[in-house]
Amino acid sequence: MRDGAPVSTPPRVLPPNDPRQYDDLAGEWWRPDGAFAMLHWLARARAALVPPAPRPAALLVDLGCGAGLLAPHLAGKGYRHLGVDLTQSALDQAAAHGVTVVNADATAVPLADGCADVVAAGELLEHVPDWRRAVAEACRLLRPGGLLVLDTLNDTALCRLLAVRIGERLPTVPRGIHDPRLFVDARALVGECARHGVQLRLRGIRPELGGAVAWLLRRLRASRVGTGPTAGPGGTEPRIVPTWSTAVLYQGHGVRSG
Ligand SMILES: C[S@@+](CC[C@H](N)C(=O)[O-])C[C@H]1O[C@@H](n2cnc3c(N)ncnc32)[C@H](O)[C@@H]1O
Repeated sequence: MRDGAPVSTPPRVLPPNDPRQYDDLAGEWWRPDGAFAMLHWLARARAALVPPAPRPAALLVDLGCGAGLLAPHLAGKGYRHLGVDLTQSALDQAAAHGVTVVNADATAVPLADGCADVVAAGELLEHVPDWRRAVAEACRLLRPGGLLVLDTLNDTALCRLLAVRIGERLPTVPRGIHDPRLFVDARALVGECARHGVQLRLRGIRPELGGAVAWLLRRLRASRVGTGPTAGPGGTEPRIVPTWSTAVLYQGHGVRSG
């Protein structure tokens, strides 16, 4: 090496699901065509399950809020949006998008029982080694009559194939972001929610195929010719649509009894 030549640091390789990956990818959160693009599509679909606030200053607790991608889709619904996450670099961005942030583990949230009108847990549970504990916390935070909305990845061979072996080779999912051993069995999730007073109803979801393929082609073309983003948030991004099977990606929603 010549004296004085810049030394380029190779990107560090972290174990699957290591939370430091979110620091390394901090610049991707709000890039419409970035590594977290699909989270934007999912946030829109999750927000569609959230009704307008039932009372003034109703509270929505967003567990594993990341950089606050849910925020634009809640605008006008009347909630105070409080985000809980372990990753400070993501919380800083969430705060810049109007989210009140708390740096905490979703399995031990420093908030009072029954404080929330809505608890959202989008693409969180499949990252939490003790997802049952996170579900117990989500249900504990809900007031009776409050709404739980979530989406996650199922613990099936098909999901491991599509979301990890194939998905993590596409630009829609960062490589190594998942540890498939943490994927969440849908029946076990329904059972766990029921144990905590929430009757969860599930439905399978997926990106709308034509839109996703068109997005992917635009994205690949743009990266080849080195142009900027090809779609703004809410522009021509693919829609998330219901599908008949919960075997891969699924949404759940349910009201807390009591
Ligand atoms: C795939 S991202 C989803 C972010 C956001 N919900 C969204 O859909 O845009 C997962 C997020 O969960 C956070 N996370 C992972 N484990 C967590 C835990 N035990 N407690 C709180 N946050 C956690 C990560 O820091 C990351 O921001």
